[in-house]
Amino acid sequence: MSALFQPFKLKDITLRNRVAVPPMCQYMAVDGLVNDWHLSHYAGMARGGAGLVIVEAAAVSPEGRITPGCAGIWNDDLAQAFVPVVEAIKAAGAVPGIQIAHAGRKASANRPWEGDDHIAEGDARGWQTIAPSAIAFGGNLGKVPRAMTLDDIARVRQDFVDAAVRARDVGFEWLELHFAHGYLAQSFFSAHSNQRDDIYGGSLENRSRFLLETLKAVREVWPEHLALTVRFGVIEFDGRDEETLRASIGLVKQFKDAGMDMISVSMGFTIPDVSIPWGPAFMGPIAERVRKQADVPVSSAWGFGTPEIAERVVKDQQLDVVMVGKAHLANPHWAYFAAKELKVDRASWTLPAPYAHWLERY
Ligand SMILES: Cc1cc2nc3c(=O)[nH]c(=O)nc-3n(C[C@H](O)[C@H](O)[C@H](O)COP(=O)(O)O)c2cc1C
Repeated sequence: MSALFQPFKLKDITLRNRVAVPPMCQYMAVDGLVNDWHLSHYAGMARGGAGLVIVEAAAVSPEGRITPGCAGIWNDDLAQAFVPVVEAIKAAGAVPGIQIAHAGRKASANRPWEGDDHIAEGDARGWQTIAPSAIAFGGNLGKVPRAMTLDDIARVRQDFVDAAVRARDVGFEWLELHFAHGYLAQSFFSAHSNQRDDIYGGSLENRSRFLLETLKAVREVWPEHLALTVRFGVIEFDGRDEETLRASIGLVKQFKDAGMDMISVSMGFTIPDVSIPWGPAFMGPIAERVRKQADVPVSSAWGFGTPEIAERVVKDQQLDVVMVGKAHLANPHWAYFAAKELKVDRASWTLPAPYAHWLERY
């Protein structure tokens, strides 16, 4: 019996299997507004059989977008545009999730296929970035951000809360806070990017404060019966990994106490020069350690996109839910083909009935 194709329950939400589509920016929004591209993309992802489809990072404020093409959820009109996306995901039998995000000092960038670098100084498409400290990321993201004031911090925290309310009101059932990948929240946690000398910087406790305060404030508005998750970079691969992992797992425990239901274990990406040991399932043992030591359900991405690997990491209890990203871009029906390969009984029924009926019979 396949472990990957067992249902997964979190609060009142039941995923039909442990396959999830992780958030993947499409860079196709205009002024934050999602459109027909997003509808067709997410409908296709959900139709393919995954249990969970998490909509791409939606910025909680205009300056929180990575690029001018990033989706936003900073006002009600932007939120309403997600309604058809939510409905399409549900109609195909998947659970609709969304990630809300602020890109911090990595914002104001060109789309990946247009350079992936910061928009040049003086180009009207760009904007002032903000971060815990006035330290640039480096590499091709060299723009120096403005160090946030205490008012900025309170405002962005409230932006996350307002975004969560909007996500709730348009029908999302799974909310992920983007605290990973060197974006704003991750950059508060990392001493590489946070050199503040107030209550938001310095000690581990202070560097964790923005993340914990934001999570707690969101939990107050996000319904108790729905899933609240955090994507967090628990490791940087900067040579100080044991120390970072220990500190990260300590914070994950605090997230759990603050009402987080599940953690998506990822990487920090806070500095450009790191040695990531890319390879199939390389995040598996790290996720497993977080799962055991913090005693919390985990998901992870990066290199789990073949059926045997995805099956094994669930069977071995490294992951509870497997994020399959780029493999879904290549094949939106990834879950169906995985079910067939894993010889799941009536594999076609990972797909909605109008497809499954015919594929099962003929
Ligand atoms: C086009 C693209 C966009 C992405 N956008 C996001 C995003 O919005 N939020 C996020 O947390 N990760 C994002 N990621 C990372 C993915 O969620 C995932 O971690 C990554 O693709 C690795 O998984 P994979 O090896 O299965 O593709 C993106 C990845 C891709 C390829």
